[in-house]
Amino acid sequence: MSASVWLTAQTSAPAQRADRYVEGSAAHPAKMLPAIAAQAITRYTAPGDLVLDPMCGIGTTLVEAVRTGRHALGVEYESRWAQLAARNLFHATQRGATGSGEVYCGDARHLPDLVPERHHGRIALVVTSPPYGNSLHGQVRSSRETGQRGVVKRDYRYGSDPANLAHTGTDDLLTGFTQILTHCRPLLRPGGTVAVTARPWRERGELIDLPSAVLAAGEQAGLVPAERCVALLAGVREGRLITRPSFFQMKNVRAARRLGLPLHLIAHEDLLLFTAPPRRHRRRSTEELPAPAEPTNRR
Ligand SMILES: C[S@@+](CC[C@H](N)C(=O)[O-])C[C@H]1O[C@@H](n2cnc3c(N)ncnc32)[C@H](O)[C@@H]1O
Repeated sequence: MSASVWLTAQTSAPAQRADRYVEGSAAHPAKMLPAIAAQAITRYTAPGDLVLDPMCGIGTTLVEAVRTGRHALGVEYESRWAQLAARNLFHATQRGATGSGEVYCGDARHLPDLVPERHHGRIALVVTSPPYGNSLHGQVRSSRETGQRGVVKRDYRYGSDPANLAHTGTDDLLTGFTQILTHCRPLLRPGGTVAVTARPWRERGELIDLPSAVLAAGEQAGLVPAERCVALLAGVREGRLITRPSFFQMKNVRAARRLGLPLHLIAHEDLLLFTAPPRRHRRRSTEELPAPAEPTNRR
């Protein structure tokens, strides 16, 4: 498997989003950096190709796809984010994007029922990211802004539905995510690519290695691991990393260091790339395998 480093945060996330996303989009707790989606799209597709994000949030993948002349499909569980994704797509079109896009609200564990059949087997690229641990999410307002004591955290939830994979435990999240990748496989055109961004996080000091779990999920889904890249969340200036940690990342690292744990800020996401196996080599599950042929008696 090859590896490379992608410069995806030479400008901040707000600068990358400026004027391209409608009001309300900032409230999503775990948006992808637009440059990650944009680089994946330009590397692995050509204008006119079809791109899918089965967990599309406010539609970052879709907006970046239509801006560069690709067509985009998105699925999102929460109607609040699905509506914003549709509005962001419309906004992109009004600003001259040449691609077209559609958003379906539903559970991507039932992807083949949500994506119209005419698109099956035609998707060139899936770009997506599973929901992360909520210690990474949210925006803060200081007591000066709120007039209340202490720091107030807001916009740190995806919704209130316990069935949203963001609200399940890590095991259920990974089972659900494996199901989603398994359903992506037949939707891809032969040789199509799947790009998944994932970040490790800490729960009570313990590292949850989501990227390695995503790699295992992809393999279990019958996809072929192709590259493991580093998508930087920090800028690079004169050979040095310029980190842009959130308030909570700083707070957690500082607290750990006070306790003597030598934690560092996480300044990248892992970007895991898989390819769809050629159809004739695709691994089939035991239910899909034909019953063993009866021996033919030629006598
Ligand atoms: C990490 S966020 C994706 C953010 C997106 N890349 C963006 O930039 O807006 C994961 C999304 O998956 C959604 N989600 C969770 N469970 C889902 C499911 N079963 N089917 C579809 N979407 C789901 C969450 O509501 C959340 O918006």
